[in-house]
Amino acid sequence: MMDENLSIGFIGAGMMASALIKGVIKAGKAKPASITASDAYQPSLDRQAAEGVHTTLSNREVVSRSRVVFLAVKPDVVASVLDEIKDDVDPDRHLIVSIAAGISLESMEGRLNSGARVVRVMPNTPCLVSESAAAFALGTHATAEDRALVQELMGSVGYACEVKESQLDAVTGLSGSGPAYVYLLIEALADGGVRMGLPRQVALQLAAQTVKGAATMVMTTGQHPGQLKDAVTSPGGTTIAGIEALEKAGFRGAAMGAVVAATQRSQELKALSATPDKSSK
Ligand SMILES: NC(=O)c1ccc[n+]([C@@H]2O[C@H](COP(=O)([O-])OP(=O)(O)OC[C@H]3O[C@@H](n4cnc5c(N)ncnc54)[C@H](OP(=O)(O)O)[C@@H]3O)[C@@H](O)[C@H]2O)c1
Repeated sequence: MMDENLSIGFIGAGMMASALIKGVIKAGKAKPASITASDAYQPSLDRQAAEGVHTTLSNREVVSRSRVVFLAVKPDVVASVLDEIKDDVDPDRHLIVSIAAGISLESMEGRLNSGARVVRVMPNTPCLVSESAAAFALGTHATAEDRALVQELMGSVGYACEVKESQLDAVTGLSGSGPAYVYLLIEALADGGVRMGLPRQVALQLAAQTVKGAATMVMTTGQHPGQLKDAVTSPGGTTIAGIEALEKAGFRGAAMGAVVAATQRSQELKALSATPDKSSK
């Protein structure tokens, strides 16, 4: 169990940081007073201050006041932030947790003094409603305790699991981009309902709740989705007619293809962003 007085810092107090701060406080993992947040944008700090979080314009102060430091700035700012805090990061005291998409552990460790403990996390936007699906990879010097800590902190805003860093592109293609695929599905189901005569608002609510309910069934029963599908598919019935329409349209292939395409795009973007970074070192 984590110490609720654990000091946690956030460099960047934007959308993702706010969601994480809200989640860890709500889950009782940290008290507002033991959290410090910095940001270049004063209204973001004002929002955190209103929650009782200590705020500052200084990223270095975040490091000096915290044991766990989340890097929650946009990826293009990570290098300059690391350069700024580098000499304040003490491998014995600090764990650096980056949520910046596409920034490798090697590049972050390379910018910090040797021995720095770094963990890279890929969360997704349902973090805003404490339903994140996140995966994380440990850096060279991160410890078993660091693993447990990140698991507990990210677990306080949803599901979290450890993967190899090389798998984070696939995580991006699946759960990082995945909410958008599901929004598309919900919209399309609702359109189908409207096409068949339901009022728009009713159709949308029924579609969204159906997706939420089906996901909850998969997660709570532990049954394979195929088993759950079979259980609601009676011979000659309505559901098998709907499934036939989906199969004819290549639904499974389309869903798999979305994950493959987004994973490949993540790999491409990583390759593009790695080129200038290496040449500037
Ligand atoms: N949103 C997602 O779905 C998602 C999913 C996975 C990972 N992520 C990652 O999460 C990170 C944060 O995303 P976000 O959506 O929360 O971004 P965001 O809302 O733009 O928050 C980033 C904040 O950092 C501030 N900032 C910029 N430069 C700074 C500096 N030098 N020192 C301190 N603060 C600084 C920004 O201020 P200004 O606005 O004034 O620049 C902004 O308020 C990104 O790296 C992203 O890749 C996001």
